[in-house]
Amino acid sequence: MSETYDLVVIGGGPAGYVGAIRAAQLGMKVACVEKRKTLGGTCLNEGCIPSKALLHSSEHYEFAGHEAKDHGISIDKLKLDLKAMLGRKDKVVGDLTKGIDGLFAKNKIKRYIGHGIVMGKGEVAVKPEGGKGSPESIKAKNILIATGSEVMPLPGVEIDEKQIVSSTGALELPKVPKKLAVIGGGVIGLELGSVWRRLGAEVTVIEFLDKIIPANDGEVSKQFQKVLEKQGINFKLGTKVTGAKKGKDGVTLTMEPAKGGKEEKLKADVVLVCIGRRPYTQNLGLTEAGVTLNDRGRIVVDEHFRTNVEGVYAVGDVIEGPMLAHKAEEDAVAAVEIMAGQAGHVDYNLVPGVIYTFPEVAMVGKTEEQLKDEAVDYNAGKFPFMANSRARATGQTDGFVKVLADKKSDKVLGVHIIGAQAGTMIAEAVTAMEYGASAEDIARTCHSHPDLNESIKEAALGVAKRSIHI
Ligand code: FAD
Ligand code: NAI
Repeated sequence: MSETYDLVVIGGGPAGYVGAIRAAQLGMKVACVEKRKTLGGTCLNEGCIPSKALLHSSEHYEFAGHEAKDHGISIDKLKLDLKAMLGRKDKVVGDLTKGIDGLFAKNKIKRYIGHGIVMGKGEVAVKPEGGKGSPESIKAKNILIATGSEVMPLPGVEIDEKQIVSSTGALELPKVPKKLAVIGGGVIGLELGSVWRRLGAEVTVIEFLDKIIPANDGEVSKQFQKVLEKQGINFKLGTKVTGAKKGKDGVTLTMEPAKGGKEEKLKADVVLVCIGRRPYTQNLGLTEAGVTLNDRGRIVVDEHFRTNVEGVYAVGDVIEGPMLAHKAEEDAVAAVEIMAGQAGHVDYNLVPGVIYTFPEVAMVGKTEEQLKDEAVDYNAGKFPFMANSRARATGQTDGFVKVLADKKSDKVLGVHIIGAQAGTMIAEAVTAMEYGASAEDIARTCHSHPDLNESIKEAALGVAKRSIHI
């Protein structure tokens, strides 16, 4: 006899495990089907967490080798123990994924290890991974699809996770490559490019468009590129890779201007392909169950996260919206609250985006380009960290804060930060915007001194052209 649940979640990433826990809190009997042995999905196993562990370790290494002496600290015979650095990262990941097992036990969520297949309304089949054993059928009042995303392949540059790697391979290179070519000047390329540059690789980023981090504010993108160039990263913008040839001593990439033109070659020991991710819906039974996908392969849902098949919901990277862990979590909480008859809601205009390089880049709301496109009248206030006393004390003065506010109402429409700890600072802007703050509201809020956040207050004052410290 098959088990019956209120909710079966397929996928144990930030969308799936958070949705499962919230549903259990709401009193549902919940099961979660995940094909990996560990919970946490892409984010914990091969995304957010291992990349941040390496970013942090490599930042210490860079500090020890460079800035430390400016602070009167000299280090003799600095040595990199890459194996230990990777080992620490694996331990962080292992501890956190085990933590989710603990949360599942606490919330009495039944865990199935295997490949989940939607069999139609109210039924999921769990197939053991590797094909051994027969599928088990479980019944559910509702099904929540949270199967996430996978690496977008680049034709002609086949990933082998040794010489040509995806982010997964780039998180466990056994030695520092002399030359690393990064295809894609987006979030992964710049975060993992930064890690390996700090550890000693010569990094070249090849970007198809004529700017890096194209979704960010244009002024931030330009400043960010300048800072990264100063750190030693090379950029080839407006360039497309047309092929890759692997040899014993590395990979030769052929490329040409994106608009067409003379072919060029670039040799690298390792090539990282990071041109985006695509929704993961393989062997999920969606066609058979009649679930509609859009032209980009994402599952189509309404504002209540319902697919076109009754009782089947979807959340996270597999539906529209930014492919971010916190967005996936918000989706999942809202979806299960709606299932429980509550009023779950996500404001997609207020999903912050952070790039955890040094300096960090963080944004929420609209960019200047978007406001111009939408013909919105706005005022901009900008404040450089060079004029912030805490940034001067730490020596981390690169970057600025920009606050964009509606010209008439003064309501904050977007905040963009490039600078140390931008990711932590953006939370203040998100909270303010969630409550519909004006620039004046932020400007009149008391900020502790000396803190980097004072730059947000100063940029808000700048909207009315009355910053104090510039
Ligand atoms: P996933 O985390 O992809 O989880 C889906 C899970 O479903 C997987 O574990 C998969 O094994 C499982 N699954 C799939 N199909 C089936 C099936 N049929 N049956 C059973 N199980 C199945 N986001 C941030 O917000 N901040 C960051 O710093 C950040 N860093 C990143 C760094 C890297 C290198 C990468 C690759 C991504 C990063 N992301 C980051 C993005 C983040 O990882 C994703 O947005 C997030 O994991 C999406 O969550 P999800 O639950 O929708 O999907
Ligand atoms: P991305 O979308 O951030 O960047 C991809 C870049 O590749 C873009 O600049 C794009 O113009 C470029 N590109 C596309 N096709 C190309 C081609 N053929 N040749 C050269 N350049 C090409 O995608 P990325 O970096 O792969 O990351 C995937 C997703 O993972 C991100 O969009 C984000 O959602 C998530 N992520 C989030 C992180 C964070 O929040 N800190 C960290 C890492 C990943």
